[in-house]
Amino acid sequence: MSNYNIFPDEFLWGGATAANQYEGGYNQGGKGPALVDVLPSGKDRYDVMSGKLDYKKLDESTEYPGRVAVDGYSHWEEDIDYMIEMGFRVYRFSISWSRIFPLGTEKTPNTEGLKFYEKIIDKLNKNNIEPLVTICHFDIPLNLIEQYGSWRNREVIQFYLKYCKTLFNYFKGKVKYWITFNEINMLFHLPFMGAGIVFSENENQMEVKYQVAHNELVASALATKMAHEIDSNNQIGCMLAAGQYYPYSSKPEDVFDALDKNRDIFFFGDIQVRGKYPNYAKKKLQELNIEIKTEPEDEAILKKYPVDFVSFSYYSSRLTSADENVGEKTSGNVIHSLRNKYLETSEWGWQIDPLGLRTTLNALYERYEKPLFIVENGLGAKDKLNGDGSIDDDYRIEYLSRHIAVMRDAIVKDGVELIGYTSWGCIDLISASTGQMSKRYGYVYVDKDDEGKGSLKRYKKKSFYWYKKVIETNGENL
Ligand code: BG6
Repeated sequence: MSNYNIFPDEFLWGGATAANQYEGGYNQGGKGPALVDVLPSGKDRYDVMSGKLDYKKLDESTEYPGRVAVDGYSHWEEDIDYMIEMGFRVYRFSISWSRIFPLGTEKTPNTEGLKFYEKIIDKLNKNNIEPLVTICHFDIPLNLIEQYGSWRNREVIQFYLKYCKTLFNYFKGKVKYWITFNEINMLFHLPFMGAGIVFSENENQMEVKYQVAHNELVASALATKMAHEIDSNNQIGCMLAAGQYYPYSSKPEDVFDALDKNRDIFFFGDIQVRGKYPNYAKKKLQELNIEIKTEPEDEAILKKYPVDFVSFSYYSSRLTSADENVGEKTSGNVIHSLRNKYLETSEWGWQIDPLGLRTTLNALYERYEKPLFIVENGLGAKDKLNGDGSIDDDYRIEYLSRHIAVMRDAIVKDGVELIGYTSWGCIDLISASTGQMSKRYGYVYVDKDDEGKGSLKRYKKKSFYWYKKVIETNGENL
């Protein structure tokens, strides 16, 4: 057995961002309008994200925080310098689809968009940082939503594959790790943010969600096939918003309810890894009287092209009961959970459960026996910029070190194959669920507030120096 304190030598330490919350530059470089550009700040945000409120009905005074975000579009070079200084071995970021295909339907890509990402990727490779690219992170050209109804329409699969083909060819030999869809299961919770879905009145929403899921799953399998054909070194991952459900009590009904809720997450992984609809899902669709439109070749496509690794985000475990009248609901987190009295919560009501990460790692590894990659984890918290430009974010260090410690346990004591860790929002960025800037995750502070004011100047937090040490010592110095 290897030394208990040491992560595998090749372990990929790093951080993650995504174009929709980091990049901004919404009308620069030939980029077309995208989903992220119509997500408002404030109280309407949740209704738009969940598909209940049509963004076209928002009034003129509406602010859209994603349009500028933290202006990664102009600051990427400086930001990668911070990553180099911390010793990153991997950087997860997403490509904005409408920067490459502004309408989603063009015959040829926008070269300026490709060149923008090429500069980023070249700088990463030059500095031995592995790029981990999310092809679609809560983002889709607005034209595909307005003209095609987004992922409910099978035609969108072809547009997505064209986008993928462009990326796989253009970045051949420069990018090895790809994620087809960020948190693919999010479409069940926030259908607009997750998949660009706006519901019409009297529509069977569940049926639409399963149709969208099916189309994305077929697209993901075909993208996997294409990636392997273009470059056999490519490694493709699915990406789940994970976090195991615990039963509220030892009542058998609660235990079964937790099993059932966990299936909502596993449903996607089961198809992307095992290559077929699991029986419990087929039964559920029958019970709900849902009929999704499929093509005869779909079964073979899903079967033949499983992903190479399983990536996931983990912020917390969840708690559930079969009895709707027990327990208190947590606030803040978009995936519903009851409050677990044994856990502390963040300022935004998200529960903090490091051991739950080990439970989740084991559940995923035992089920799939594929390499795992934690591509999001972290604490959204308010930070105070001191007069001397320092930020004492000890709470973040504590959160991260407790999670990294259980990752080590999962590897060394449980034998889980974990290939990397990219904590979320390594450079502060805007929150997906609230659109706020004050919900910060980074090692690098960005001077901007919830009203959009600030110099966008970057400052290193205390956690910056801490994480640098963690990487330097390969996880020994927590
Ligand atoms: C994940 C998303 O759901 O959680 C990210 O993939 C998101 O896009 C992250 O930012 C944290 O959530 P929030 O709402 O605090 O930004």
